[in-house]
Formats: sequence, structure tokens, C-alpha cells
Amino acid sequence: MYQSLLTETSERICTITINRPDKLNALNKTVIKELGQVIDSINNDPAIGGAIITGAGPKSFVAGADISEFLTLDPATGTELAQLGQDNVFTKIEYSSKPFIAAVNGFALGGGCELAMACHIRMASQNAKFGQPEVNLGLIPGYGGTQRLAQLVGKGKALELIMSANMIDATEAHRIGLVNHVVSPETLIEESRKLLLTILSKGPGAVGKVIEAINALYDNNKNGFAEEIRLFGECFGTAEMKEGVTAFLEKRKAQF
Ligand code: COA
Repeated sequence: MYQSLLTETSERICTITINRPDKLNALNKTVIKELGQVIDSINNDPAIGGAIITGAGPKSFVAGADISEFLTLDPATGTELAQLGQDNVFTKIEYSSKPFIAAVNGFALGGGCELAMACHIRMASQNAKFGQPEVNLGLIPGYGGTQRLAQLVGKGKALELIMSANMIDATEAHRIGLVNHVVSPETLIEESRKLLLTILSKGPGAVGKVIEAINALYDNNKNGFAEEIRLFGECFGTAEMKEGVTAFLEKRKAQF
């Protein structure tokens, strides 16, 4: 049981709802701690294939880190806040071998935009709004925003969005490649589930290797092409690959 999260699992999908709607689901210390716990439990549970992250209420996905916790921080504790969040939540999602989809149902600002960007895929409802407004507070993004926004939309657009703190709507977020799809608020979860179920019908080991290989592109310590060759080779030792290829040759659907 979590204090600030709701979780529900069906058809191998764990849906995590950040549940502080009166504070627009801002990420306080409890939410960050509990997100870390739920991600660990998803990663360790063979019955769960992937996850959807969304926010409670019709208005907000996550309106950022909880600003009310900021005034007591100094450089050391500020560094610690960013480090712990990145290690226990954001990087852990990105490097999970299970697919995570952000179902962005409203404001995705600051840490909310960063949380969506840490997920492997972003689905946005038509009322979603994105932005990195930290400079309004004399801050910069601390949960990976400077890195992942530049990776997703390019350096120029990332610099503009973060330096101006301008908010963009779902259509613009889609246009610049920040989100994969824009759907109606009513169908957001259903469409996210549909896409995730498609992915979960594939070889799970292969899906995990896709995440690992693509992440290698953004890891300065790795050569992405070499990682792809290594992971491709590994596939030939798996029962999953034998089943997938045999099923194709026998003209039947693979059972993973
Ligand atoms: N941290 C803490 N509390 C937050 C919050 C945040 N990031 N974002 C919203 N809230 C709280 C508000 O303080 C308010 O609480 P209250 O009712 O106790 O006063 C409640 O959530 C509702 O927000 P409100 O500002 O009244 O809603 P709005 O519709 O007028 O404005 C936003 C919505 C998103 C534009 C506005 O809340 C906002 O700018 N939030 C901060 C965004 C931000 O800078 N995030 C980055 C943080 S690093």
C-alpha cells in the first residue's frame, strides 16, 4: 500500500496513478520514494510485463517537483535530491527492461515533463501541457530534463523551451517529437493499454534488448552498434527466439 500512489494490475500491465490531485500531483519526497519502490516491484515481478504512469484527476499529470520542499535545501541537499530522484526513479525507468508508457493527462511541468521523458513512450491527451519552468524559480531541471529533452527534440528546441520556460500544448509537443501520440482524454488510458498490449504480445526478452540497445546510443561509455551486435547475438541463445522463428515457419502465432 502506498500513501501517494494508486496501483492496479491487469493483463500484465501495472497502472501507477500519482495521487495528489489537490497539489496537481507534484512530486514530493514521498512520491519519489514510493515511485522508486513500485518500479523495483515491477522490475522484480515476472507477472508484470510493463507499466503505465498517469496522474490523478482531469487536470494534471505531474506539475513538477514539490516547490514547497525547496526553501530548506542547500547545495548539498539540492544535489542529493536530484541524485536520489534520478537514481531511484528516472534512470531506473529508462533502463528497465520492461516498457513504461507515460499517459499524460494534463500538466506535465518540470519533474512531470521529466518523468514522462524517462518513460519509453509518451501518450498525451488533447489537454496535456508540457514545459520546463524551473528558470522561473531560479532553478534548472534536475531530473534529467536538460539531457532527455535535448535527446528527444534536439538541442535548439530544448534550449528554447528550458530557457524561456514556455509551455506548449499537446499538438506542438507532438509536432516536435516530444510525444508519440495525441488522443482524447477519455481514450488516453485505453489507447496507452492498447499500445502496451501490442508490445507485450512480442518476445519480452527481445523488447528488453531493444530498450538496452537504444539506450546505448545515449551512453558515452558504450558503442551502440557494438551493443546491438552483442544483443543480437544473445537472442540466438534464447527459447523465445526459437519459438518466434519456429512459429513463423509453422505459420502459427508465437506463444511467448
Ligand atoms: N509544487 C507544489 N505545489 C504545487 C505545484 C508544485 N510544483 N504545482 C501546483 N501546486 C499546488 C498549488 O500550490 C496549489 O495548492 P493550494 O491549493 O494549496 O494553493 C494547487 O497545487 C493547485 O495549483 P494552482 O496553482 O492553484 O492551479 P492553477 O490551475 O492556477 O495553475 C499551474 C496550474 C500548473 C500553472 C501552477 O500550479 C504552476 O505553475 N505550478 C508550478 C509549476 C512548476 O513551476 N513546476 C516546476 C517545479 S520545479
